[in-house]
Order: sequence, then structure tokens, then C-alpha cells
Amino acid sequence: MEGIQKPQGSVVILGAGTQGRRLAYMWSSRGGIVRLVDLQEQQLQDGLKYVDQLRAETKDHDGDWGKIETSDPSSLESTLKDAWLVVECVPENLKLKQKIVTQLDELAPEGTIIASNSSSYGVFEIIEGLSLKHGERVMSAHCYWPPETSAIEIMGHKDSDPKLIKLMLSQCKEHGFSPFHVKKDSIGYIYNRIWAAIKREALLTLSEGVATPSEIDAIFKDVLKTPKGPCEQMDVVGLDVVLDIENHYAESRAGIPTEPRDYVREMIRDGKLGVKNGAGFYDYEQK
Ligand SMILES: NC(=O)c1ccc[n+]([C@@H]2O[C@H](COP(=O)([O-])OP(=O)(O)OC[C@H]3O[C@@H](n4cnc5c(N)ncnc54)[C@H](O)[C@@H]3O)[C@@H](O)[C@H]2O)c1
Repeated sequence: MEGIQKPQGSVVILGAGTQGRRLAYMWSSRGGIVRLVDLQEQQLQDGLKYVDQLRAETKDHDGDWGKIETSDPSSLESTLKDAWLVVECVPENLKLKQKIVTQLDELAPEGTIIASNSSSYGVFEIIEGLSLKHGERVMSAHCYWPPETSAIEIMGHKDSDPKLIKLMLSQCKEHGFSPFHVKKDSIGYIYNRIWAAIKREALLTLSEGVATPSEIDAIFKDVLKTPKGPCEQMDVVGLDVVLDIENHYAESRAGIPTEPRDYVREMIRDGKLGVKNGAGFYDYEQK
């Protein structure tokens, strides 16, 4: 994007779990310094190993990789002092996200962008009721899994600074992401809303006895040429997570049918959580 200055300074990532370590790899792909922060030393060490592994697997990389420095949150103020961007990647809990965003707004220099990677809570929900000094620099920057998925969704809020949104979109592109601008407040950003509708309708179809999981998956894959069908994919995500996400949509929006949630709740009651415990729509112990 023309007319946007390359930011100076480091990128700070709070949380070195599944997503944080992957973000450390992405944001260090063009040199510079990434500061990875976690409460747990083991997570930081595992995160560094993971970044090395991703770098070793990368083909066609030009230029130098950036340096990754690790620390715990006790020195957050000094960690943030030269940051142009800080991304929170702590566990998915609204109260925790609100506490962290408030703390980052308090401690980070005025011009630092504060981004949240939350899957369920858009920035407009996170900042609701908070009194922030510089709320205009807080935004959602939601990325995907597995790591080769380059999509990232950038969503501001009604008081966002449009210059910072533009800067974030351009820097994401520069660092190997495929950025998408979510132009209005949206629970589920762009892709997850569409995926939620597919999950919901697949569960409704099952609850009506129209087709079996294997039939739903087979027809979906046959028509759309995707590697997995919706039931297989829900098993990978985890049926408890599927229910949490659907509950969140139902709490935030009128007209979400109850049958899909009843159906998945019944499965969970029967001890079916998906791939992680060996039983979901399919039996993974036998497979
Ligand atoms: N896992 C995914 O596939 C995925 C995909 C998209 C978005 N997300 C989002 O990313 C965020 C993180 O998810 P994850 O799967 O990486 O979680 P995770 O549980 O793997 O990692 C979270 C990390 O945060 C650390 N942490 C907790 N409190 C902290 C604090 N106060 N300061 C610093 N570190 C702290 C934990 O020690 C842990 O290492 C969530 O909001 C989630 O919705 C995850």
C-alpha cells in the first residue's frame, strides 16, 4: 500500500502457545526483533524450538530472519517500550482478554497498535465497558490454524484510527499473511461465520434424520472437492468447542435454531468430544 511508512521497532507477542509461537515465526520473517512473552518458561522454550522447526521447513526465504527474545510478563513495560505492535495471544477468556488489553493500553507507548487474536471475541466486545487511554489503536487480528493458512482478518471498531488499520493490513501482507479487512463489527469475522452456518445446517440435517454423518461428509466433499466434510472437521475441532462457539452466536444474535446445539450437547453427554477423546461422529479408536 502506497504512502504507508514501514514502522520502526519490535513486535511483542503475549502468549507463546499454539498461536503465539506461530505468530513469532511470521512476524520475524522480515528481520527485526520479536519479543515473545509468556508466564511459563517451558512454553517460551517450546515456542523457540517450534519457530526453528518452521524456519527449517521454509523454502524460498529471502533476507535475514529476525531475532526472537523471550521474557515473562513481570517486565512488560520495558518489553513494550520500542514496540510498534503488540498481539495478545492468551487463552480464550473474555475477562482475561479485557484485563490484558487494559494493561497493554496502560503500558504501551501511545503509537503502539494493540491487536487481539481472539477467535470468539471481536474487538468491539473486548473493549466494551473498558476505559482506555488510546482505544483507537486497539483492533482484532485473527489468524488461522494450521500454520500454512495465511489468512488473517483485521477488524477495527467504531472509533478505530483508519491509518492504523491500513498500516496493519500492509504489514500483514509484508510478513506473509493474506490480510482481509472486516469492515463492520462481526462476531466470527468473515470465514468463521460461513463455517458456523455450515456446521449449524449439518447438525440440523442430522437432528432431522435426513442423512448420516458419513453421507453428509461424502456429498459435501464430492460437490465442493474439499479434503474433509463438516462432521469430520467438527471432530477435529472438538465438539465441546463447537458447542461453545455456537452458544456464543446464539447469545449474541436472534434466530439461531436450538436443534443443532441440542444435538451436539447430547453427543457430549454421551462422552463424544471428537478426535481428542477418540469418539465423535466417527470412532477413532477403531480407525
Ligand atoms: N489454537 C488455534 O488454532 C487458534 C486459532 C485462531 C485464534 N486462536 C486464538 O488465539 C488465542 C490463543 O490461543 P492458543 O490456542 O494459542 O492458546 P494456548 O493455550 O495454546 O496458549 C496460550 C498461552 O498464553 C499464556 N498466557 C496465559 N496468560 C498469560 C499472560 N497473562 N501473559 C502472558 N502469557 C500468558 C499461556 O501460558 C499459554 O502459553 C485465543 O484467543 C484463541 O482464540 C487460536
